[in-house]
Amino acid sequence: MDRLSVNDARKPDTIGKQVRLSGWIRTRRDSKGGFSFLELNDGSSLGNIQVIADGSLANYENEIKHLSAGSSVTVEGEVKASGGQGQATEIHAASVVVHGLADPEKYPLQKKRHTMEKLREWAHLRPRTNTFGAVMRVRNRICRSIHEFFQGEGFLWIHTPIITASDCEGAGEMFRVSTLDPDKPPRTPAGGVDHAKDFFGRAAYLTVSGQLEGEIYATALGKIYTFGPTFRAENSNTSRHLAEFWMVEPEVAFYELTDNMDLAERFLKRIVSDVLADCGEDMEFFQERIDNTTLARLEKVTAGEFHRVTYTEAIELLTTSGQKFEFPVQWGSDLQAEHERWLTEQHFGAPVILYNYPAAIKPFYMKVNDDCEPGRQTVRAMDVLTPGVGEIIGGSQREDRLDVLEARMRDQDLNLDDYWWYRELREFGTVPHAGFGLGLERMVQFVTGMANIRDVIPFPRTPGNAEF
Ligand code: 4AD
Ligand code: MG
Repeated sequence: MDRLSVNDARKPDTIGKQVRLSGWIRTRRDSKGGFSFLELNDGSSLGNIQVIADGSLANYENEIKHLSAGSSVTVEGEVKASGGQGQATEIHAASVVVHGLADPEKYPLQKKRHTMEKLREWAHLRPRTNTFGAVMRVRNRICRSIHEFFQGEGFLWIHTPIITASDCEGAGEMFRVSTLDPDKPPRTPAGGVDHAKDFFGRAAYLTVSGQLEGEIYATALGKIYTFGPTFRAENSNTSRHLAEFWMVEPEVAFYELTDNMDLAERFLKRIVSDVLADCGEDMEFFQERIDNTTLARLEKVTAGEFHRVTYTEAIELLTTSGQKFEFPVQWGSDLQAEHERWLTEQHFGAPVILYNYPAAIKPFYMKVNDDCEPGRQTVRAMDVLTPGVGEIIGGSQREDRLDVLEARMRDQDLNLDDYWWYRELREFGTVPHAGFGLGLERMVQFVTGMANIRDVIPFPRTPGNAEF
């Protein structure tokens, strides 16, 4: 007796086998002939398998006929060819063991469709829905691609710390990590909180990015990537922002900005083609039930080359577009989501890499361009923008000249002593290097067409929300 997943049992090559399947009932339908059809799902695929439970089974009347959506069972029986539409196989049950019933008066996931907002309140049950099962299988496939891609290209996975003392993005959007009593913290003579008495002997935070530590390893081992959770205490209530999200960050020594763009493009193409190759049934579901532009959008990624446009050219396109924007743009201003979306959705209709942004709107670590027009200093930044999501990747070549780096840090009012080790990387054998960060959840949104980022991560953390 083989223990099989529903996904495997749905394949015709299992016909004739005796199998054992376990999972949750989606529906039960009783036939006049004195037997029942059970639709069983175990999360291994979107599709269910049909189980035929005969009235002669010992527990037919007192258990099987009480099975309803959400009940858990183990079924043993033979796989047979199915006459039903859209299914190759079905199971003729020799036994149905009931682990737990789910009271239909109380179980929230009844046949009717629920809104995504409602399902967020049931984050403990929503993985049992078609949508969340499909999202998690695709999310998992993307993560596997991420590792396979970088491992295949000879990158080392480096585990950068989650607790850190430095603010990579210099934006001050960090969650503090402390064991001090918030009601009566130790004080310095001047009256401030004395962090020297805190757990780490200094102020510490949850990381916003593993990049700075990633640079340490790239400038010793060549090609590395980090992949883990990152945290931002920004009060953004949008469909694209989480307070806790996963980021993958490659960092490569001896790479310049164009190498970095080539890497990002190869990387995104690889993820998309892996998902299209391996998640066919789930992707069809997203196309039909979630967003009917999904597959066309993904084909744009695998088909052509990404457009590469400087920030200055993008401003030119935006200001001459004749389009009315809520936020007007001019050279020097940060692009808003509406501008990014116009560029990638309206104008190019495909992914775009914007590069060479104004220095003033980008973090201290980006390499300053030497050949700037007067009054228009730019840095070698690159953002990848995609239709539907906007910014999915942010990266840059890094400033490898100590004097220029320190001047930029002073401009941004950073305390140079806090970054002594980062500065020493430029003092001892400095090298050109570059890297980027891909937001995993934005990638899952892009691939699936899911409208809200809260619905592509198992347990979303957003301002005011940390249930579960
Ligand atoms: O552009 P960001 O802030 O870049 C960095 O953190 C760099 N240190 C990365 C690097 O060069 N190694 O963030 C990178 C990406 C964004 O493009 C976006 O996809 C995602 O991370 N991201 C978020 N995703 C969800 N919620 C948020 N609050 C996010 N902030 C950034
Ligand atoms: Mg960014």
